[in-house]
Amino acid sequence: MEELITRIQIDGQVLDEGVLKVDSFLTHQVDPQLMAKIGETFATAFKEQGITKVVTIEASGIAPAIFAAQSLRVPMIFARKSKSLTMNEELLSASVHSFTKQVTSQVSISRKFLTSQDKVLIIDDFLANGQAAKGLVELCQQAGSQVCGIGIVIEKSFQEGRQLLEELNLSVLSLARVATLSEGDVTFLKEESQGE
Ligand code: G4P
Repeated sequence: MEELITRIQIDGQVLDEGVLKVDSFLTHQVDPQLMAKIGETFATAFKEQGITKVVTIEASGIAPAIFAAQSLRVPMIFARKSKSLTMNEELLSASVHSFTKQVTSQVSISRKFLTSQDKVLIIDDFLANGQAAKGLVELCQQAGSQVCGIGIVIEKSFQEGRQLLEELNLSVLSLARVATLSEGDVTFLKEESQGE
């Protein structure tokens, strides 16, 4: 998605150890106009699949996911990383290991929101090692829901996330695929799967 790539080139900052800071439009301050276009792009790509729910994980997945859900006219569910006071029903739960942060956390969704009738589109802001997306796939499997695809805003293609998800036979659409991150420079892979 050309507009997203241009925005990353203008506003993204490369931090040490292959981390891309995009807090001015995606992970902290959010640009709703760009998010709406991102949501529309995901919706267009997956509109033939009969999606009934969009699933993401808090916090930064929520913005692109809500716009994708709005475009598809279906509900959006975000997995919680800590149990809320009101989550008193039966839960779907999976553990997610972050290699970046070296912590394992439990992520949960109330069972009542996902059923075996659901066809799910998973959305997340970043795909790095793929552990968050894999955890969301596990939650859908526990509910008996079908995962129809995974939409990612920024994929770090030099990490193993895409490979992990493709090995699980999942279709991954990433709107920007970062090939390399070095001081002051971001390069991208150009492929059909960028959603253009
Ligand atoms: P994985 O889910 O693909 O395995 O990723 P990993 O454990 O490596 O990443 C942990 C967290 O860091 C995730 O967010 C992920 O989205 C984010 N992340 C990974 N690489 C980058 C990057 O280059 N730039 C930025 N800005 N974030 C990155 P999280 O902990 O779930 O945080 P949040 O969604 O609550 O903000």
